[in-house]
Amino acid sequence: MQVWNQGYLAELPYPHHVQPQLAPSWLVALQTALGQRASSLLSGFRYCELGCGQGLNSLLLAASNPEGQFVAVDFNPQHIAHGRRLAAAAQLSNIEFVQADFTELLAHSGEGYDFIVAHGVYSWVAPAQRAVIRGFVEQRLNANGLLCLGYMCQPGMAPLAAAQRFIWQHAQYSKGSPPQRVQAALDALQALQQGGAGYFVEQPEMARLLARSAEQGLDYLAHELLCEHWQPLPVADVMAEFASLGCQLIGSAIPLENIDAVSLPGNCLAAIQGLTDPLLRETAKDLARNQAQRSDLYQRGDQALSTMAHRHALLDSCWALLPAAPAPGAVEFSTRIGPLQGAAELYQPLLQALGEGPQSFAELARRPALAAQVGQLSGALQLLMWAGYAHPLLHSPVDVSRCQALNRLLAEGALQGVGYAHLAAPSLGASVPADKLEMAAARVLLEHPQLRGVLLSETIQALLRRHGVTVEQAAERVQQFEQRTLPGWQVLGVVP
Ligand SMILES: C[S@@+](CC[C@H](N)C(=O)[O-])C[C@H]1O[C@@H](n2cnc3c(N)ncnc32)[C@H](O)[C@@H]1O
Repeated sequence: MQVWNQGYLAELPYPHHVQPQLAPSWLVALQTALGQRASSLLSGFRYCELGCGQGLNSLLLAASNPEGQFVAVDFNPQHIAHGRRLAAAAQLSNIEFVQADFTELLAHSGEGYDFIVAHGVYSWVAPAQRAVIRGFVEQRLNANGLLCLGYMCQPGMAPLAAAQRFIWQHAQYSKGSPPQRVQAALDALQALQQGGAGYFVEQPEMARLLARSAEQGLDYLAHELLCEHWQPLPVADVMAEFASLGCQLIGSAIPLENIDAVSLPGNCLAAIQGLTDPLLRETAKDLARNQAQRSDLYQRGDQALSTMAHRHALLDSCWALLPAAPAPGAVEFSTRIGPLQGAAELYQPLLQALGEGPQSFAELARRPALAAQVGQLSGALQLLMWAGYAHPLLHSPVDVSRCQALNRLLAEGALQGVGYAHLAAPSLGASVPADKLEMAAARVLLEHPQLRGVLLSETIQALLRRHGVTVEQAAERVQQFEQRTLPGWQVLGVVP
């Protein structure tokens, strides 16, 4: 088997990562918050993921969005085989896996897409492949369509470039599996660091960055770093390239980053707001945040809503609380520029209301305790969404059974040691994270929905034992699961 394909690691399958910001319901909620007209998810939509890895993102979305047609593309045959296998086993007919490199893809014409997403691809491929991705967007993104582009950017990633190049070169000469080659390169770098290499002396944060990266696992690191064309990109270049295709940057898929007051150092705000050129302003924001990764939203055509239409679109949105949400009260958000206090006057009634069940924005705004703070509601919901405490709900019909069929396979796989850590949540049109114990719980409840209390706890623990999975304080954790997570999962349709 080839180790690299066009400079990208091909020997090792990419881990089963899931990016919440790629869900259509999430993207639409952001477009709405940003005052842009969004595609209707009700009337059917087409979605394409470029560089889909093993396909879990697209599979979860296809299961939880029966109105959508999904196409997931990757040139790695192992990746596509995995995606196809799972799609067939879960009987998902609204997803197609295409094994092709981006150049082959561009050579074929076809229908347009309402959403094109590419996460973790654009700054890892050669400039010529980036041009092909842009060509695909130009050819296939519909007039109202949205592109979500996740990539490494400057300046946050720039200092790593010299170390990454060393790791790449070192891996060309070393032997063994990709994780072994990464480890050997990291060891060589560490020897340089311990020898007092100027790179580490003058940039002390590099040693920390490399140590932190190593904690993410060697498989992941191999994909991140064993790459010929690794290149953090300046946002202004990316914006200019997509502007030439008629695609404007409307904001970030990471909700916090759209709220300057809570994502930029306060003392930089005036200087940034004084910059009138959008490219320069965005570059200044990246400098202010020392931004390392971006998740850009590019919209084709001017889709700005009038004030009235924006208000209606916000009022129409529906929201659900997620199991990780804190109890009603003040909320502390941990941001890159420090802790941010969410006031109890706002978050107490908001969390209380969402805790009673999913609510529309209009219903929330009518609550007496929130009526006087309606102007802050959208920002508060965006922050709850960013923190993983709330999620927009689908307006379209929900198909619980197909999600639960996929969830059964994912839970079984996770117990057998496959690195699945998400389950489909049909009401969200998205997924929820699930650790090993929660995967075992899902597996039991999908088979025996009525089990509760001691019987549920013992069955889950027996299943974990049977698969050789050790969970600390399993009995207490199952109790917490039953009290906190299970009711939320049932509302969202994760389990019956
Ligand atoms: C870093 S992974 C990202 C996977 C997934 N999008 C995620 O973020 O979890 C990049 C993926 O792009 C694929 N890829 C890289 N270059 C490609 C090309 N030229 N054509 C098609 N797929 C490519 C790789 O096989 C890999 O699965």
